[in-house]
Amino acid sequence: VRRGATRRDFLAAIGAAGVGGALAPATAGAASAGRGTVAFHGTHQAGIATPAPDFVHFLALDLPSATAGDLRDLLAELSRAAARMAAGQAVGPEATGAAPPVDTGEAAGLGASSLTLTFGLGPRVFEDPHLGLAARRPAPLVRLPTFANDALEPSICGGDIGVQVCSDSPQVAFHAVHDLIRLASPAAVPRWSLAGFGKTRNARGGSTPRNLMGFKDGTANIVGSDPAALQQFVWAGPESPSWMAGGSYMVVRRIRMLLANWDSIGLDQQEQTFGRHKASGAPLGRRHEFDPLDLSARRDGRHVIPESAHVRLASPEYNQGQRILRRGYSYTDGVDRGAGAVAGGQLFICYQRDPRAQFIRIQKQLSIADALGQHTEHVGSAIFACPPGAPPGGFVGQTLFG
Ligand code: HEM
Repeated sequence: VRRGATRRDFLAAIGAAGVGGALAPATAGAASAGRGTVAFHGTHQAGIATPAPDFVHFLALDLPSATAGDLRDLLAELSRAAARMAAGQAVGPEATGAAPPVDTGEAAGLGASSLTLTFGLGPRVFEDPHLGLAARRPAPLVRLPTFANDALEPSICGGDIGVQVCSDSPQVAFHAVHDLIRLASPAAVPRWSLAGFGKTRNARGGSTPRNLMGFKDGTANIVGSDPAALQQFVWAGPESPSWMAGGSYMVVRRIRMLLANWDSIGLDQQEQTFGRHKASGAPLGRRHEFDPLDLSARRDGRHVIPESAHVRLASPEYNQGQRILRRGYSYTDGVDRGAGAVAGGQLFICYQRDPRAQFIRIQKQLSIADALGQHTEHVGSAIFACPPGAPPGGFVGQTLFG
């Protein structure tokens, strides 16, 4: 089977064209570059605190037999391609003649469409003796424990490199995944991917999007315009090595919703499950979406927000003050024939400074007591250390090799 242009062809093309100006005429068209552009370079990687665009396409890659040098070259190359795509440009020079085009072309004319690419490294990167990076492992990058009710499918879990690709165009996001896989070959091979839509709110303004259970999602989330919360809960702190300063830790869970089951319970029970009203998003017993949760409120001797409600068990009050930045999306993958229902769920993605104190603590509690657990199943799982952003000319992950 002919594989088309590879990483080697890309390097050859760069060599032939010369890095920089000669690559500038991009198939995506200079006219549209700039429209909906999110800067790739900066202190932090884009795609964490930046407002979530409408679509995601997540990619997990494995490194079958890489050395540290291979990984370094690979990360440099993926960053170079990412910076170009985020600027609305093609990943390689315009195609000519008989050679397979370096850029596959399906994003031509669509501009940047708010494309962000956020890279992370999985735990195995720091465990593989070939890579020799054990001494650089960040303490917060632990392997996730098994949680009560986990129903994980190994083929859609893990990954050595995770790339969260977000865009306002699903085609631009697809293109990024398509071309990153080609450029990463043969050093890295694709492990799993998933496309999604319908973001969790992580920015002020506008109306809060709804998840596939019909509830507003992201009401109490950390927003990207809250620097104090980002500093306290999202950006790596002193428990991380200095190469992670400005970075964050990403946990990904593919959570299947048992929608036939959910759709058959009453509205009251749906609202008790989350602890919020379905139509308005207000906490139970309150009128407005952003009214504060009153976890002590009682009516007829019982908590207005039940003991098993998702928002109670996930709240900072029940988790030693901890919060996370949620940045998930909905997904669908056909039908659940057994249940006679559409198959869908949430690609739950969250960022934090230390998963041990944040995601793991919260999920331990949710997995035991959350009423939502009767309507959901965690089938995929991954964790990644996301290095800081790269300065212009640099690449994401370079601090690991410094
Ligand atoms: C399919 C799975 C899930 C669905 C449909 C879901 C949905 C929701 C909804 C509707 C809310 C209330 C509105 C809001 O503040 O966003 C919420 C809140 C929240 N969820 Fe989830 N969630 C899911 C899984 C999880 C998981 C796995 C975690 C973390 C381990 C989590 C953590 C939180 C947190 C921290 C809050 C805010 C609680 C607060 O402070 O009020 N969620 N979720």
